[in-house]
Amino acid sequence: MNNFTFYSPTYFVFGKNTENEAGHYVRRFGGTKVLIHYGGGSVVRSGLLDRVKASLNQENISYVELGGVQPNPRSGLVYTGIELCKKEGVDFILAVGGGSAIDSAKAIAAGAVYDGDFWDFYEDKPITKALKVATVLTIAAAGSEGSGDTVITKEEGMLKRGAGSEHLRPVFSILNPELTQTLPAYQTAAGATDIMAHVFERYFTNTKDVEITDRLCEAVLLTMIKEVPRAIADSNNYEARANIMWAGMVAHNNIVGVGRDQDWASHMIEHELSALYDVAHGAGLAVIFPAWMTYVMKQDVMRFAQLAVRLWGCNMNYMNPEETAKEGIERLKKFLTSIGMPISFPELGAKEEDIPYMVKTMGLDENDTIGGFMKLTGKDIANIYRLAL
Ligand code: NZQ
Ligand code: ZN
Repeated sequence: MNNFTFYSPTYFVFGKNTENEAGHYVRRFGGTKVLIHYGGGSVVRSGLLDRVKASLNQENISYVELGGVQPNPRSGLVYTGIELCKKEGVDFILAVGGGSAIDSAKAIAAGAVYDGDFWDFYEDKPITKALKVATVLTIAAAGSEGSGDTVITKEEGMLKRGAGSEHLRPVFSILNPELTQTLPAYQTAAGATDIMAHVFERYFTNTKDVEITDRLCEAVLLTMIKEVPRAIADSNNYEARANIMWAGMVAHNNIVGVGRDQDWASHMIEHELSALYDVAHGAGLAVIFPAWMTYVMKQDVMRFAQLAVRLWGCNMNYMNPEETAKEGIERLKKFLTSIGMPISFPELGAKEEDIPYMVKTMGLDENDTIGGFMKLTGKDIANIYRLAL
């Protein structure tokens, strides 16, 4: 097991009606002037925004609001949010929504206390301070409610890039599974795919003997395989929603990743897809992950076979473990299809002729590679896109 540090200071408030405590927690964590940041309107339609505002009013906490975050959040609204925070003296940002609203809130939080262009942070400048961020989560997916990461798309060139810092971990996150019951099945499935992908990125490692982490990963994946079909069959299934919501946090606050090298190539490969075609990140991952698995399987066939056995109950073919490994990938594809996810370029509206552009915008030099499990060059990445055709 590799040496590691693990610090996940977010205070989680989980369960029914917990959004009504938002004001109480903003006060407890020192917010005096809040920016409420949200997406395209689902929180307005559901009445959630009004409940959150009522909760702030009850604590006499003043606030301003900024809605309109798009899925795959854009830099333009981040600049607007930064200006608003500076003008209004905001000291606390409350994101109400999904990963997009939360990531946009984190970008604003870092940009509001920085004199330069916030985009510097997405080009590797370290984030050394930020306004406090908290969340009221409405979709189980990105795991941004418990992570220090943010992903923003710069409109100019449609560049989708990530940044990360301990300063961006939410101080509290309110997770009420009931809030996810209004999600369309497609968004539930896309979110679920992202959650599973966050585990896969950590499961496929060359670090040996991190049994505890392997087993935690498998627990999250097995939970998803059981609960996602139940949530899709009955959107109001609270227990299924609750399990998925907590799995989404566990999958990405890095507790299932410590002690080992991680991969993350599939996420980088996917980000080009969601940037170019504006598709849901999880749907893009459903297309990329099986292709990536097929391409890199030979790196460690036994690891893929192990997952096939433990996750899908495949029989281990000791004479030919590659067959077991392949069967596991096929089972994943079937699962993704069964929950309504695309698994190929045409289903996503992606085109073969755009592959060179997507590889190019990743900005890799000839000898640059991405990924920890198997190092991938630009040529490998193009091959993986082609496997998804
Ligand atoms: O905008 P509104 O109207 O709220 O609608 C949203 C949006 O259309 C809708 N929605 C959310 N909650 C709902 C709801 N509709 C009905 N009822 C509800 N309760 O769902 C759509 C998707 O929302 P979004 O916030 O975009 O989803 P998600 O949480 O999947 O976030 C995706 C973004 O997170 C990034 C992705 O790249 C993508 O940009 N990621 C962020 C990470 C992080 N910060 O750690 C890691 C991830 O790997 C990921 O890259
Ligand atoms: Zn993701």
